[in-house]
Amino acid sequence: MTERRVLLVIGGGIAAYKSLELIRLLAKSGVRTRAIVTNAASHFVTPLSVGSLTEDKVYGDLFSLTDEAEMGHIQLSRSADLVVVAPATADLMAKVAHGLANDLASTALLATDKPVLMAPAMNVRMWLNAATQRNRARLAADGVQFIGPDDGAMACGEFGPGRMAEPQAIHDAILAFYDQRAIGQPLAGRKVLVTAGPTLEQIDPVRFISNRSSGKQGFAIAEALARLGAHVRLVSGPVALADPFGVDIVRVESAEQMLAACEAALPADAAVCVAAVADWRPESTASKKIKKGADGPPPISLSENPDILATLSKKKSKRPRLVVGFAAETNDVEAHAKQKLAKKGCDWIVANDVSGDVMGGDSNQVMIIRADGVERWPEMAKTAVAGKLAAEIAAALA
Ligand code: CTP
Repeated sequence: MTERRVLLVIGGGIAAYKSLELIRLLAKSGVRTRAIVTNAASHFVTPLSVGSLTEDKVYGDLFSLTDEAEMGHIQLSRSADLVVVAPATADLMAKVAHGLANDLASTALLATDKPVLMAPAMNVRMWLNAATQRNRARLAADGVQFIGPDDGAMACGEFGPGRMAEPQAIHDAILAFYDQRAIGQPLAGRKVLVTAGPTLEQIDPVRFISNRSSGKQGFAIAEALARLGAHVRLVSGPVALADPFGVDIVRVESAEQMLAACEAALPADAAVCVAAVADWRPESTASKKIKKGADGPPPISLSENPDILATLSKKKSKRPRLVVGFAAETNDVEAHAKQKLAKKGCDWIVANDVSGDVMGGDSNQVMIIRADGVERWPEMAKTAVAGKLAAEIAAALA
């Protein structure tokens, strides 16, 4: 096997210290890292500590004559299989989105002919700022892949999206890149339907029933399938995630709308039902806001929602060749998941234990249940689960 090499651009943010851990994890997995440390980043991590982990020279100044003599910035940008920007600051994202090149990091990013993966990290307001979101969308349209940012408490004391993805998750995404490169685009010409997110069932104009699904796992699966060449139709309930790159997305609210959008997406070669569809909806939706009255809380009668997975699995015509469901369980995971496989009539169930912080979190431990047995996967980033599942789907459809 040829040596696997990543060019890591370390941007100037407090999360820069996490890049040291990333380099260490990559080294353990046999991936060599060469690093560019921006001027701003060198205030957070020293080139010396970066260099002792990469066991290589650390690149920093565009106009250093010795660097140019030993390795020009053009060559540097192409000497790796993948360019990873972690942390990707708002400034670096803006530069790359606009094609600016006034230091070594931005010049290498402009000159590279290799795929680029960015792990943004910044204050929540900076991330949500229209300019940053515009730059993110521009970069995604240009083919840059993103991991994170995560939600959480930030070094600046605020809370929200902006924390850099954990080093382990970035590491897993890099390994998934290599896995995918090894298998190419086996799903070219195939159409896959994916459902994701929660559904929202309206009680009255301002109230609804829903659940804690973030949509992250479903979005990651849609993206992973698209990277393998599939034409992906993603039907998503309301989530706070940007459109995944290269995926045809339809956003819906209720289970009934989700089912209709799925039916409209057929025929498909495979369907992956990741959505946490609300099991029940209010029997009727009040047209005006329900007021508090002297009689206490109003009774809300519920009707059962259509089961999208079972409907797709049991279709007489246009049944996708492979139907995959998920099972969210808090106890007796394997037993319940096996029952679900039989009851719903799908081909595989991906079962996970949601008693911890899986919902909304970034990692997941799953088992795959098929008629002929159970396969347990170790705990991985949701993006890595997505990559591995996409590869198995490709193998099953081959
Ligand atoms: N599912 C669906 N439509 C529904 C309910 C569930 O398509 N109305 C799908 C989910 O997308 C998932 C699988 O069925 O792939 C299992 O969902 P889960 O919530 O684990 O199970 P339920 O069928 O809702 O059963 P229970 O709540 O009793 O565990």
